[in-house]
Amino acid sequence: MAEPSGDQSIRRVRLNALAYGGDYNPDQWSEETWHEDIRLMREAGVNMVSLPIFSWPQLEPEPGVYDWEWLDRIIDLLWDAGIAIDLATATATPPSWLLRAHPEMAPWDADGHRLEFGSRQTYCPSSPIWRENVARMTRAMAERYGKHPGLAMWHISNEYGDHTSRCWCPETAKHFRRWLENRYGDLDGLNEAWGVNVWGQRYTSWEHIETPKKAPGPINPTQLLDFERFSSDALLELFQIEIDGLREVTPDIAVTTNFMSMFRDLDYWDFAAVEDVVTDDAYPEPADPTSHVGAALNYGLMRSLKGGQPWLLLESSASATSWRDVNVPKAPGKIRVESLQAVAHGSDAVMFFQWRQAKYGQEKFHSSMLGHRGEKSRSFQETKALGAELKLLEPVRGTRVRSRVALVVDWDSWWGSSATESLPSQRLQWARQAREWHRALYTLGQPVDAVRAVGPFDAYDVVVVPNLYIVEQPQADALRAFVERGGHLVVGPFSGVADATEKVHDGGAPGLLRDLLGIEVDEQWPIADGLTEQIDYAGETLTVPSWSEWIEADADVEVRGRYTSGELDGLPAVTRRPVGNGSAWYLSAMVDPDGMLPLFRDVLRTAGIPARDATDVDIEVVTRADDTTDYTFVLNHGRNPVTFHLDMPGTDLLTGIRHEDRLELGRFGVVVLAAPRSAAIPFPTLIRTPVKEDA
Ligand code: GAL
Repeated sequence: MAEPSGDQSIRRVRLNALAYGGDYNPDQWSEETWHEDIRLMREAGVNMVSLPIFSWPQLEPEPGVYDWEWLDRIIDLLWDAGIAIDLATATATPPSWLLRAHPEMAPWDADGHRLEFGSRQTYCPSSPIWRENVARMTRAMAERYGKHPGLAMWHISNEYGDHTSRCWCPETAKHFRRWLENRYGDLDGLNEAWGVNVWGQRYTSWEHIETPKKAPGPINPTQLLDFERFSSDALLELFQIEIDGLREVTPDIAVTTNFMSMFRDLDYWDFAAVEDVVTDDAYPEPADPTSHVGAALNYGLMRSLKGGQPWLLLESSASATSWRDVNVPKAPGKIRVESLQAVAHGSDAVMFFQWRQAKYGQEKFHSSMLGHRGEKSRSFQETKALGAELKLLEPVRGTRVRSRVALVVDWDSWWGSSATESLPSQRLQWARQAREWHRALYTLGQPVDAVRAVGPFDAYDVVVVPNLYIVEQPQADALRAFVERGGHLVVGPFSGVADATEKVHDGGAPGLLRDLLGIEVDEQWPIADGLTEQIDYAGETLTVPSWSEWIEADADVEVRGRYTSGELDGLPAVTRRPVGNGSAWYLSAMVDPDGMLPLFRDVLRTAGIPARDATDVDIEVVTRADDTTDYTFVLNHGRNPVTFHLDMPGTDLLTGIRHEDRLELGRFGVVVLAAPRSAAIPFPTLIRTPVKEDA
């Protein structure tokens, strides 16, 4: 099963199949159970497991005293059964003896309280002791297992920042100062960047700079933004320490760390740049019948983080989680459609947390592939069936998703518009805005990639920017070039406001995007809670719940929508500036998600991209392709049957049935149609809108 990579510049996961399996915690079970596990894993089609993620205390029970034997045995047993290992460096959480010997490595919260042992991730990302020990443990793991033929890839740490993404301890303060010194050179640079003349904050010594703990009033916004950047970088450094250690010993083994979908606290563009393969943990809320829409954006980001390269779904839940207020199980069939959705969006894996449901501890009520009832459990029956189906999807491995639409994801703007309370309104939420824009595009039938604000945009005809609060010249230039070469750009409210130090651009928003968009914002005009305003957009009324802007448009700019209520009544709300074959649109308001539909429908039409008429979010179509073949995933996330007219015939990889022009899908139905690659992205039409019945 293992496939030596050969090519060291592109380290690939050593598994020549779509990966199927989950987290495995053999140290919670007897050896007798291991044998049963392996038998059932084989039955379920498992070919890879992740371990030993949280096992440092079991591997090094006392400082410098290692106990590898149990891990040697289980790895060998697994590999003998053909199951490859996504081998964790076991550095997700420190052993108690380490924390006891070095209490200064514990993280502190913003109130200055030290966090105690008893959970996981009890470390300060900046702690030199922690870093030293992590490097040591990683090296020990690499030396012990680096040559094992079952080693498919390295799984570094686990979900960086899940519990400890920020730390306010004295060691972090020292590290923060070094980071700032590196960024600004000297104190004058820092004072200038932070705009310290406001509220008398001039610094005369580096020692005076602290992590932004609780203060009497609002904290300097640029200090907060820099703390976000620094904290992401601190974990990135930790990641790099492990990567460096592993590359020294195992230069041809792929490394990853598992992401948490669209996670605010870490700039995943930076993390993805230093790893070999993107992996993600996805937990769509089973109680939300539209959670697959959010998942589609998360997956769009995952496949984009390394330029369209396939990624791996490394964790998901077979049914209920145990960390929500109410942990609703997944309805029968949901595991399958959700898992195949990830594959549709470019994942070359379906993995779960975890293989066997725990008997004790914090996660004993979290579902697993093998539930408490063992083989009889529904989750086992469903995941076993899924394992068999996944084998049929082998042809899609390595193929890439086809998309003409991208959405800009920019952590700086996310942090800048959310880290501080000193904003025109707290209702402008970056992630919500991004999700609502994506939801409209999803509804219109578009698989959406994510893209950085500096591009590259070459693959796209439409780029949407829900919010780009911070804009510097490279972003402005890239967006302009996109439009000038015929692209269609839609920019959302509160964009182009500030530079990277959060200084408002001369002339106000949209700053460096002013000429491209052909508009000026006179004032941001947030809407009081409980009120809503309206926009007339080509005869349709868009509801504006929380944010509007007083804008003025240049003479060559078309006003496509105007406010029809409130103080802004009659003023432009939506504008479009034609630029050669391209166009630059500005939407000055946050509008209800449905209100985005007519606008995006127009933009897609302008770009010559077909859009779906029906507005049912249960339906999803995503095509993965190689040079010769399109694999079109048609998914019904809903419970009502749907019918499609196919624009081209195809053969379902899952059943072998050829569909000529008509396709019926039942509750949670999925087909994967293989057909010769077509010039246009396949776009089956929904010919019967499902009749909504009570689920
Ligand atoms: C993830 C984590 C796993 C497990 C899982 C439960 O965040 O990586 O270790 O806790 O959640 O949903």
